[in-house]
Amino acid sequence: MTAASTGTGTVPDTSFMVDRAYFTDRDVWRRELDGIFKRSWLLVAHESEVPSPGDYVTRRMGTDEVIVSRSEGGEIKVLLNACTHRGTLLCKADTGNTAHFRCGYHGWTFANDGSLRGVPRGRELYGPGFDKGAFALRGARVATFYGLIFATFDQELCSLAEYLGDMRFYLECMLNVSGAGTAAPYGSYRFTHLGNWKLEADNLAGDGYHLRHAHRAGFDMGIMGAQAGAVEGVCVQFERGHALRAQRAAGSEPGLRFPGYPQERWPEIAERLSPDQARMFSDSSVVHGLVFPNMAWVHTPRAGGFDPGEPEAAMFQLRLFNPIGPEETEETNWLVTPADYDDAWKASAFKTMQRQHGATSFFESDDLENFRRMLQPAGGRVGRELLKSNFDLATGSEPFKPWFSGPGRIVGSDVSEVNQRWFYRTYLAWMEAGK
Ligand code: FES
Ligand SMILES: [Fe+2]
Repeated sequence: MTAASTGTGTVPDTSFMVDRAYFTDRDVWRRELDGIFKRSWLLVAHESEVPSPGDYVTRRMGTDEVIVSRSEGGEIKVLLNACTHRGTLLCKADTGNTAHFRCGYHGWTFANDGSLRGVPRGRELYGPGFDKGAFALRGARVATFYGLIFATFDQELCSLAEYLGDMRFYLECMLNVSGAGTAAPYGSYRFTHLGNWKLEADNLAGDGYHLRHAHRAGFDMGIMGAQAGAVEGVCVQFERGHALRAQRAAGSEPGLRFPGYPQERWPEIAERLSPDQARMFSDSSVVHGLVFPNMAWVHTPRAGGFDPGEPEAAMFQLRLFNPIGPEETEETNWLVTPADYDDAWKASAFKTMQRQHGATSFFESDDLENFRRMLQPAGGRVGRELLKSNFDLATGSEPFKPWFSGPGRIVGSDVSEVNQRWFYRTYLAWMEAGK
């Protein structure tokens, strides 16, 4: 964050500028993996992806490959996907069901709880003193939150509940809707794109500024419904770098209603949430945010474009971005719904997600193209030196009392960069601490 000369003037010292090297350098990327990803609770899967003993999916935690497995005893395990003999990748499939994982190199075999079970010619070649217990797959700490599975290899890190902190208040609004819990009825899908992972993180933490420009076509086509009109919004910030942005149609009357959710389920929602949560959830039409460092979400009721007979629905999309490299990001997306809503509702929610926020949707394709284009000037030797990313929008934003009472530092700015500044301040603090 430094001042830089421009063509006709000087950017003030107080400007919030981030060096382009943070978006392109391999050294920075390696430091992030050590200083941030290794020290955070990271989302890996939804419980409904591994419902039965033996079920597994393979995922990434930063750049570490892991197997998320349901053991024969029904416990969820997150295991480093690497054989403890010589470190060969153990499981090559995305998903499946198995009692054992057998290494393709020398044939060591591990149970789905990570324990080493079989060593070819083990007694003969290693002798009777060989301790299989010392060669179990390396397991992470695992914790769940309304069906979301998080993991960390950091034994010193606080509990997941403490890590999420006051963000739980807002996540519960979307995850504690039904007594039946949550599900990811369509599983997950993954894709990679060119662009640094932080661009997506800062965008979903609260970039209200880009909406009507980058996504103009979507707005013009009417897929935003009433949200295309005048809106008012807030940005909220939490300990550890979490942040969210909420908006509603300007001047909407408060009232307990849950747009997109079946009306007969509204009393259940109101009853499960605290009064403050119910007010927040019912009066906010779009809420998106970031759980630091790499889990984001978008929640919005379906705004239109229904086929005959389709029910209204609301979409809650979870996103995960893992940095394959400084300029390449692997994204995993899930639609998360109340587990017991009917199939037609879930299908309508899924359609909303695919149309607005899937990999090839109106909004996501606009964003991914901008992330890619942000890399191009950073590759030039002059541009890299002279250009920095600027986050000075709405620096005068003050704490604000919105249409709901909720925790966190609430700032009354629908269009601002307050959350981006919060994200990068936290990021830089973590990077400094992790040196
Ligand atoms: S590397 Fe896996 S058995 Fe040898
Ligand atoms: Fe966007």
